[in-house]
Amino acid sequence: MKHVASRERYDSMQYSFCGNSGLQLPKLSLGLWHNFGGVDVHENAKNILIDAFDNGITHFDLANNYGPPAGSAEETLGKVLKNELSGYRDELIISTKAGFGMWEGPYGDGGSKKYLISSLHQSLKRLNLEYVDIFYHHRFDPQTPMEETMDALELIYKQGKALYIGLSNYNSKQTQQAVDLLSQRGVPCLIHQFKYSMFHREPEKDKLLQRLEKNGIGSIAFSPLAQGLLTDKYINGIPEDSRAAKSHGFLSKDEINDKSVSTIKALNDIAQNRSQSLAEMAIAWIWHMGVTSVLIGASSQQQLRTNLNALSSKPFTDDEIKKIEKALS
Ligand SMILES: NC(=O)c1ccc[n+]([C@@H]2O[C@H](COP(=O)([O-])OP(=O)(O)OC[C@H]3O[C@@H](n4cnc5c(N)ncnc54)[C@H](OP(=O)(O)O)[C@@H]3O)[C@@H](O)[C@H]2O)c1
Repeated sequence: MKHVASRERYDSMQYSFCGNSGLQLPKLSLGLWHNFGGVDVHENAKNILIDAFDNGITHFDLANNYGPPAGSAEETLGKVLKNELSGYRDELIISTKAGFGMWEGPYGDGGSKKYLISSLHQSLKRLNLEYVDIFYHHRFDPQTPMEETMDALELIYKQGKALYIGLSNYNSKQTQQAVDLLSQRGVPCLIHQFKYSMFHREPEKDKLLQRLEKNGIGSIAFSPLAQGLLTDKYINGIPEDSRAAKSHGFLSKDEINDKSVSTIKALNDIAQNRSQSLAEMAIAWIWHMGVTSVLIGASSQQQLRTNLNALSSKPFTDDEIKKIEKALS
């Protein structure tokens, strides 16, 4: 296998500035939510990570609880950073998060200063790093004053334990409140991470995308393939090794039904007429909507390669966009 041999890896990837910042992110980023945990085959996880980096994917996204077991995805990346990718730290953007339940008791969930600071310390140990590039609050916590959560992010930023701060799963209104509180503390919000795909249009309805643009904040869309639904894999049933078939996967079998499969087939036809796979079209559609980076998952190098092909997608015509909306309606 080719292994980070040269600067060639930067030739095929495209990079965009993240909001008003000086940080460029690859148009395709890789997330370690599934397929990189202690239950997964390390060799496969390692090969996907190296292949991604070899193809210019400089951004790996994590959270404290990714696995299973929780924390093990950070350990997987930590091992690869220590071995195969040792020497490449300064060419990588590594993000992690805290906000969902991670450990027992009142300090392992939510948005308190206690939880966020302790969790980041644990993440750094698992990753074998002194700092992460981006630290996110993973979700809004209605039980913690937002000022306290932003105080925690300020401390993390000012101590240099994260170079940039991000928000995830905050709605448009919560985002503005948080961004204003961060700004009062002298901390810019770099990026917002939200669920977005042809199947999940909430960021448009909530006007989150306009909010980010107005504030000069970058955007990164997670689950762009709706966890695999927006590919051709479920057209003829549920494959045994798919996320929907796994007991620890987050894609429910109920989401694969007559209605969704008929929509997927209609979208697949549109993709074929564009001479690309549905996965490629689903990714390209998100770029078309103006998002900085598309955060994919992959269970194999083959999927990663297919998804990288999206970079050579041709622009959408108005007619194609209309056909996509019709298929989704
Ligand atoms: N901030 C948050 O709250 C949050 C929440 C969720 C995710 N995320 C981030 O977003 C990342 C991506 O999320 P995701 O994994 O749900 O993204 P996704 O790209 O929508 O789904 C990835 C899954 O789709 C399937 N797949 C990918 N490429 C394929 C292809 N070319 N052909 C057929 N199947 C393909 C694979 O499933 P199989 O296993 O079935 O092969 C793969 O594991 C996560 O790793 C995480 O970093 C963040």
